[in-house]
Amino acid sequence: MHDELKVPPRILLGPGPSIANPRVLKAMTTPMLGYLDADFVEIMDDTVGLLRQVYGTKNSITFPVSGTGTAGMETALTNVIEPGDNVIVGINGYFGNRISDIAERCGATVTPVNAEWGDIIKPEQIADACEKVSPKLVAVVHAETSTGVLQPLEEIIEIAHQHDALFLADCVTSLGGQPVELDERSIDIAYSCTQKCLACPPGLSPISFSDRAVDVIKNRKTKIQSFYMDVTLLEEYWMGDTRKYHHTLSMSLVYALREALRVVVEEGESTRYQRHERNARALIAGAEAIGLEPAAVEGHRVPMLTTLRIPDGVDDATIRKRLIQDFGIEIGGGLGIFAGKAWRIGLMGDAANEQNVLLVLNAIEQLLTEIGHSVETGTAVSAAAAAYQNSNG
Ligand SMILES: Cc1ncc(COP(=O)(O)O)c(C=O)c1O
Repeated sequence: MHDELKVPPRILLGPGPSIANPRVLKAMTTPMLGYLDADFVEIMDDTVGLLRQVYGTKNSITFPVSGTGTAGMETALTNVIEPGDNVIVGINGYFGNRISDIAERCGATVTPVNAEWGDIIKPEQIADACEKVSPKLVAVVHAETSTGVLQPLEEIIEIAHQHDALFLADCVTSLGGQPVELDERSIDIAYSCTQKCLACPPGLSPISFSDRAVDVIKNRKTKIQSFYMDVTLLEEYWMGDTRKYHHTLSMSLVYALREALRVVVEEGESTRYQRHERNARALIAGAEAIGLEPAAVEGHRVPMLTTLRIPDGVDDATIRKRLIQDFGIEIGGGLGIFAGKAWRIGLMGDAANEQNVLLVLNAIEQLLTEIGHSVETGTAVSAAAAAYQNSNG
């Protein structure tokens, strides 16, 4: 006999999945409907409407594709790139590298624009690359989850458009945590995920394509390589008066996403973004007070994901294991060149609250003290509390 499934309680403060909102989990237990049932189609339409609102767009092609954030990345790139196209990719972390890898698999000639991990991509770098290669597409990560850097977008979007290139932003970590504002910023292509700042389980990737991007897709010379991710086919299922079967969508995940977006809209987008900022400020104040320095450059930090440099002599794995064992708290280890060198603390969606900030700071402080890293008890929590007080005015 196998026992009924039980998982230990966890406070998920890593890079995602984040703690799912209880309303979202409840929505997932709603019974199945057929994939072309008129009542399900209405739920799909609702979801699209909410997604457009949270993305800040009127883009017709705005819907979730099946799969996680990487499915959105593949969808974005597979649909617009044809073999031989020039693509510029900003690489200042792990996920910029992934965009570059997938673009190459689509047959693109990729020109990487590199920056140090922890720093932003500079507009001049994009301008130089555009002069050299006349790209079809310029792609960057809005919120680089491996480094905690929030990439300023406006200037590089303008440069890309001056060179007649499409602009793509990876919004996997930003959607629901910081404004993405696709239309206001003229972002042509965006994708995200459900399991981070939308406080939903993983499994769908909301995408959006501007009319300019759709024109590029409609004028392709070659067929889109992927059937599953072909947005011209997916559009026939997600949009219009007569819907056509494409693949069997997960009803449960659509229910979940719809509810998650309702939660975002009910809270109010700007209130939600400020909540993330306020908690990140307190987390950083507490961390710095015990000698943990943010790895992302000041002024360009992702409020939903803080990277902290691990002090010399402190073993990454030991601390993370103890955090889980003793406190039930998950934080993330470093990715790529940050492996073993940085921790990634996510305060995403529902998890961005005072209780979690004080809890994780207290737990880290306690463990650091225990291994002989000299920290005065209560320092981190006091500094965070002071930051909260300051932000209360
Ligand atoms: C910025 C960014 N892009 C893409 C991805 C890939 O998303 P997923 O793991 O959901 O496939 C992630 C995952 O953490 C991410 O943080």
